[in-house]
Amino acid sequence: MKVGVFDSGLGGLGTVSALARLRPNLDIIYFGDTARLPYGTRSREAVRRYAAQDAAFLLKKGVDAILIACGTASSAALPDLSDELSVPVYGVVRPAAREAVQTTQNRKIGVLGTQGTIASGSYERAIRALMPEAQITAVACPLLVPFVENGEAGSDLCRMALMRYLEAPKKAGCDTLLLGCTHYPLLKDDILALWPEVKLIDASAALARDFAEKCPDEGEGRVELFTSDFSQGFFELAERFLPGGRAHFAEEKVAVETWN
Ligand code: DGL
Repeated sequence: MKVGVFDSGLGGLGTVSALARLRPNLDIIYFGDTARLPYGTRSREAVRRYAAQDAAFLLKKGVDAILIACGTASSAALPDLSDELSVPVYGVVRPAAREAVQTTQNRKIGVLGTQGTIASGSYERAIRALMPEAQITAVACPLLVPFVENGEAGSDLCRMALMRYLEAPKKAGCDTLLLGCTHYPLLKDDILALWPEVKLIDASAALARDFAEKCPDEGEGRVELFTSDFSQGFFELAERFLPGGRAHFAEEKVAVETWN
């Protein structure tokens, strides 16, 4: 079985890494749209268009299912893509909401996400569908994706931004914090340094676990990575997500400029 996974950048590699561990024989094709990152500050229409193009690219590679390993694109485009595509499409929102609801003891859940994700209210809806009485504190964190993509996780600047973003969910007494953007798990250590007792939900790993339950472990175990641009430090960052050199980077850049 061949699975296509996409994200605006490298965050979705967290899904690839978790899925490859759970289903080592699966063939995985990843597309990171690094040339058009970030998605989180763009309009819903733009994200929908990009997501449709990303999915079309993966479909041409012959994938049997598509995983939207991006909170922003899952929030903006999942229902439409599910209707339009001939293969099943899965996103991060529902599996992550389910894990958050299963984890919280006091029914107070914090959600961090990009501006687009938080404005869409997608995680709040998904959590409330499972736990109507949940108290949810959702915070848009526009600075975090640039910190991750620029290799600034762990820096003082990044911690300062996190201190600000964690204020509201801490004050609300949340015991569980859903990392609703697939870039944020790379900030886990920074978050736990500031808030050691909170339980973190990793949306990218939640998607991998959810999908692994549904798919057979069949294939040749190939992991192929495509991106639309290479930024400085790209390979180091990719290596942090996928240690061990298992993945094969496609040599060519995908020319998204020609997609209209
Ligand atoms: N990984 C994307 C998400 O989960 C990143 C967002 C972005 O490109 O802004 O939302």
